[in-house]
Order: sequence, then C-alpha cells, then structure tokens
Amino acid sequence: MTTTASLTIVLAAGEGTRMRSSLPKVLHPVAGRPLLAHVLAAAPNGDGDRLAVVIGPDHQSVADEARRVRPEVETFVQAERLGTAHAVLAAKEAIARGADDLLIAFGDTPLISSETFARLREPLRNGSALVVLGFRAADPTGYGRLVVDGDQLAAIREQADASPDELKITLCNAGVMAIDGRIALDVLAEIGNVNAKGEYYLTDAVGIVRKRGLVASVIETGEDEVRGINTKAQLAEAEAVMQARLRQAAMTAGVTLISPETIHLAADTTFGKDVTIEPFVVIGPGVSIGDGAVVHSFSHIVETSLGKRTSVGPYARLRPGTSLGDGAKIGNFVETKAAQIDAGAKVNHLTYIGDAHIGAGANIGAGTITCNYDGFNKHRTEIGAGAFVGSNSSLVAPVKIGAGAYIGSGSVITKSVPDDALAVERNDQSVREGWAKRFREAKARGKKPKAD
Ligand code: UD1
Ligand code: MG
Repeated sequence: MTTTASLTIVLAAGEGTRMRSSLPKVLHPVAGRPLLAHVLAAAPNGDGDRLAVVIGPDHQSVADEARRVRPEVETFVQAERLGTAHAVLAAKEAIARGADDLLIAFGDTPLISSETFARLREPLRNGSALVVLGFRAADPTGYGRLVVDGDQLAAIREQADASPDELKITLCNAGVMAIDGRIALDVLAEIGNVNAKGEYYLTDAVGIVRKRGLVASVIETGEDEVRGINTKAQLAEAEAVMQARLRQAAMTAGVTLISPETIHLAADTTFGKDVTIEPFVVIGPGVSIGDGAVVHSFSHIVETSLGKRTSVGPYARLRPGTSLGDGAKIGNFVETKAAQIDAGAKVNHLTYIGDAHIGAGANIGAGTITCNYDGFNKHRTEIGAGAFVGSNSSLVAPVKIGAGAYIGSGSVITKSVPDDALAVERNDQSVREGWAKRFREAKARGKKPKAD
C-alpha cells in the first residue's frame, strides 16, 4: 500500500475525428459511462491524491463531465496539439505544486483499473525514477515500442522513428506512466521535438531519465486493459470487454444471470443478495436492485431503484426517476417515468405511470394511463395506499385518488376522488333483450336488419 500523495494527469485533448461524431471522443459511453469517467474513477483517490485533466479548446463539456465524476479535479486547456509531453505541460502549474508521484494516463483508455495505477507506483518506492505500463500487442503497429535493457527500460521508440529491428518488438507502451514527482517537471521541460512527427513526445522522458543515471522500468498488463478508443468499432470492442467484466463481477457477488451474454449492465449497477436477471435485459446507468428482486426478460431499466423482492417484466420499461418499494410488482408492457411506487403495489399489465406516486398496496388495472402531459406542462397523479384503479382508466393529471378508493373500469378521471369512495365515469349500459338473435335471423333471410 502506498501512502504517498500523487498527481494524476489525464490527457483528453484528442480531436477524435475518427469517431465521426459531434460528441468529443472521451465523452462517448462504455457501459453507460463516458470513457473519461472510467479513467477518472480508476485514478488514485486517497488522501492527498490530486487529479488534473487536459482538455482541448472549446471542450467545456469535457471539463464539466470531469467535475461531475471528481469535483476536485483541475482542468487545463491545451490550445495547440503539439504532442503528449506538450499536453502534460499544459498542467505545469499543478505539477509545480509538487506530488510524490506524477501519473499520466490517456482519457480514451476506459478499461484501465485502479489496481494497475497502484502497481505502476510500486517501483517508485523501490528505486525507479520512471515506470511505464507495457503490454504485449497482438499487432504492435502504431504503438511505441519498449526497448529493454535487462530488467530496465532503455527507451521508447515511436513507430515513425523505429528501426526495422525495433519494429519487431511486441512489448508496447500503453501510454500510462509514473514519474518520481521530485524530478518530473525538470524531465518534462527537457523534452524536445526533433523526431519524425515534430511533436513533443512524452515517451522521450525515458531516455532523459536514463541519461541522468536514474532507473526506468516497465510493468506489464494485458492488452484488454489498455485498449485505446479511436473508432466506433474500437468503442464496441471495449464495450464487450467491459460487459464481460461487469457480468463476471455481478455473478461473483452472487447475482444469478441467466444467459449472461444477453444481459447488458452499466458500470454503476448495484445489486443486493439473491437477485435474478433473466435473458435479454438492458440495464442503463443509475440502477440499484434490492435483495431478492427478479428482472424478467426483455426489460429496459434506467435510473431506477428496485426495492427488495420486487418483480419487473417481462417487457417492462422503467425510465429515469422510478423507484419501487419492497415487494412492488411491475408486469408486462408497463412503462414508468418519475414514478414512486410504494411497497406491495402492483402495476401488472399494459400501463403508463408517469409523474406519479402510487401508495402501498394499491392495484393498478390493465391499460391504466396517467395522462401527465397537456402539450405544455407535466402534471402529477397521486394514488393513495390500497386504492384500486379499474382497467382501462385514464387519470387526467393533476389528480388525486384517495387511499382505499375504487375507480370503475374505463373511467376518465378528471377530478380528485376522496378516500374510500367509488368513482365511475362512463355511460350507463343499455341492454336490448333478444336483439342479437333477431339480427342474425334477419341476415339469414337476406333482409336488412331493423335499425333497433
Ligand atoms: C501514444 C504514445 C505511444 C503509445 C500509444 C498508446 C507518445 C509520443 N506516444 O501514441 O508510445 O504506444 O500512445 O496508445 O506518447 N494528446 C493530447 N495532446 C496532444 C497529443 C495527444 O492531449 O498534443 C492526448 C490524446 O488525446 C490521447 C493521448 O494524448 O488521449 C495519446 O495521443 P495519441 O496522439 O493518440 O498518441 P499515439 O500516437 O497513439
Ligand atoms: Mg493513440
């Protein structure tokens, strides 16, 4: 365990043009969370650890996202893209304030873990002045190659500057680096731009450290952890790796996933004990699932909390702001939004519940609609505990149904209903004895049936 203070600088000034998107690259989501947020969540976050993000010009949205994840983050703008070392020096002011360890990571490598950041810092305690995260690339093309000398790192050679022999090296630079904070600024300031691309390469820090007679070293990780995202195809690959990890973690924690490969989770999904998720369920950001809950197939759930022993679906859509109390039940073809549904309440079939509060134990019949929108504003529906709403009722908000009240099926309720009352809003039924028989007989004789 390190108890030293670190400064992590995350480079996120990438143009991301190959994403072919108006959204900045690092804001594209993996498992419902922006690439940058994954990296920031993994960066050291103990006492005395600080964080800085280097963003491109006009990328206020990137700074906003960084602050949302880690409110204490400092942001710096790199006005011109002159290379990775130049980008790090955009945060010079933060480096100058001092830290035991300076860590540098890229904002587009979302699969990096906090354990790897911790591992990268260990050699700094054991005589290394600089540590680089390396990996064995299946195809090393485009990566910086790690030239080793015994158990030390001799240099990093960028693709464009490498000799034919160096190009054969498969041990590559993942882009994550740790530098002894006492020498970091000095080393970075010494980096020049005399190379094939005319850029200030962060990787040149290795040669500079060696020239000073200090030790540079490598720690290795698997390629899956350091995938950099430049295209939508790579974004999809990272999503697949992340989903596999999340499913594995959920199962390790005791969640029953039936056909896990068909279940989509979010990075922040939380589970209680004895949760079951059936095949083909999509869980977006902000979902917590309580003990003993069951999510049936083909349900889609976002920003929702499910209480203990709740049951959802099949084919339910729970939208942001839904919360289900313990034992509540949402059945098939039900949509909810901004809906608080208290313990034991049931909304079993073909229903829309939006901007509503349903009291404990209430029963909402098939086809009930809360008419929450008048084309301009949203309005609330309140349904008291133990109320019974008959099938195919429209509740025109704002409206209040009292506790224990009954709503007759097919009613259009526009006025509030007191506790324990019955409200029915529909025409009286008329019955014509024998009419159907007469109708059929007239048809059989080829005659026009009488009007009544
Ligand atoms: C870099 C490394 C290479 C490594 C590879 C891993 C250098 C010189 N090369 O190469 O050794 O194998 O990453 O993926 O460091 N950035 C800025 N401002 C800049 C330039 C880059 O913020 O002026 C950011 C980018 O947004 C990106 C990161 O730094 O997040 C890396 O830049 P990129 O241009 O992708 O470097 P590579 O050529 O991939
Ligand atoms: Mg790159």
